[in-house]
Amino acid sequence: MQNPCGEIAGVAVAEIARDFGTPTYVYDAAAIVERIANLARFDVLRYAQKANSNLAVLDLCRRHGALVDAVSAGEIHRALAAGFDGQGDPPPIVYTADVFDRESLDCVIRHGIAVNCGSPDMIDQYGERSGGGEITLRINPGFGHGHSRKTNTGGAHSKHGVWHEQLPDCLARARRHGLRITGAHMHIGSGADLEHLAQVAGALERLAPQLGGDLHTISAGGGLPVPYRAGDPASTPETLASYFRLWDAARRRLEARLGRALRLEIEPGRYLVAEAGTLVTEVRAVKRQGGNVFVLVDAGFNTLARPAMYGAWHPMSLLPKNGRAGAVCEVVVGGPLCESGDIFTQDEEGMVRTQSLPEAQVGDLLLIGCAGAYGFSMSSNYNAKPRAAEVMISGGRAHLIRARETHADLMRGEFIPKPAQPAQTP
Ligand code: LLP
Repeated sequence: MQNPCGEIAGVAVAEIARDFGTPTYVYDAAAIVERIANLARFDVLRYAQKANSNLAVLDLCRRHGALVDAVSAGEIHRALAAGFDGQGDPPPIVYTADVFDRESLDCVIRHGIAVNCGSPDMIDQYGERSGGGEITLRINPGFGHGHSRKTNTGGAHSKHGVWHEQLPDCLARARRHGLRITGAHMHIGSGADLEHLAQVAGALERLAPQLGGDLHTISAGGGLPVPYRAGDPASTPETLASYFRLWDAARRRLEARLGRALRLEIEPGRYLVAEAGTLVTEVRAVKRQGGNVFVLVDAGFNTLARPAMYGAWHPMSLLPKNGRAGAVCEVVVGGPLCESGDIFTQDEEGMVRTQSLPEAQVGDLLLIGCAGAYGFSMSSNYNAKPRAAEVMISGGRAHLIRARETHADLMRGEFIPKPAQPAQTP
């Protein structure tokens, strides 16, 4: 959260740029803690760490009572490294996916991690290895919604979840392996709005009774909206309260029908971390191309992929290096990559659009807001660019929570084969 004086959570952005360099992701720990508290009504808050899996973020969530979701062996290892136990009731870590790659199957078996299956094959593969136990099912209710086609995870066009008509087959497979189905989970998409999310409670309430007599947990999934720009759907205290009431009522009706208590989980990623994060970049070139002014910064879609991938809008602000107040103009903001799509201001079809910013000069800082979710976690090394540093602000101090990658880091594990020796002539 940046204020007009160029501070993030009480620390001057210019100091952060001086001490840690740019581009750097900066997270406000207090903002994350506040979001966790806003969801305290749910029995379990399970953080979807795909949004931001830095160990310091996971540790913060753990210390404030959140549990965690993992989608890979790598995310399980991160959760364990951040101090989450492998097993417990409720399970501290749940592996949710549509496939087990071999490494993740080995990993859940070795650490006894709870699994949430999104395909019938997962039930068989887990059952063959676990020799019994329990699983939960991620159900695709036949509809979905998201901020982009690429983040809609329900309906027949989505690969996610067990199709809602296949529950009897899943139950039969589980029985064959001596597995109990103890939970029903639905996540219809990311960046939906609360009206669409509300339909999920009804669908889960209709479908869950098919899962047999072992059910003790239902999960509302993630998807809570975050406003990237004015007018976007938001999760306010009021909308969150009514969202909880809706799920709680569905849970109570199900409890009455099944004759047993049910635990209610929620699994947000973006809501907890998006607005807590700012990407601090430096302006390195300003140029005019025909009628467009391009402001080029030192972060690209290797650093923040969302605009190039979804046409996502991120709020931006400029911190002029000498405090000057330039006239506001419409500018295109891009990065350093050797690729035309390396533009932070573009729509979903890849058409360049603009944002209003004060006239920029080389050396100014450009802040890209709402970047705490799916920012660093989707970053890459394209163009052999080291990934950004990450800093967390807590107690009024900036702490380095990930060092900027080095060129040596990027080349680690690469080998140049030795040329074959020429054949010896006798
Ligand atoms: N649970 C499951 C099973 C999920 O697949 C996801 C997100 C979440 C929870 C968390 O959703 P959230 O609360 O963050 O909306 N890279 C995209 C978002 C992809 C989301 C994938 N799954 C983006 O940058 O918008």
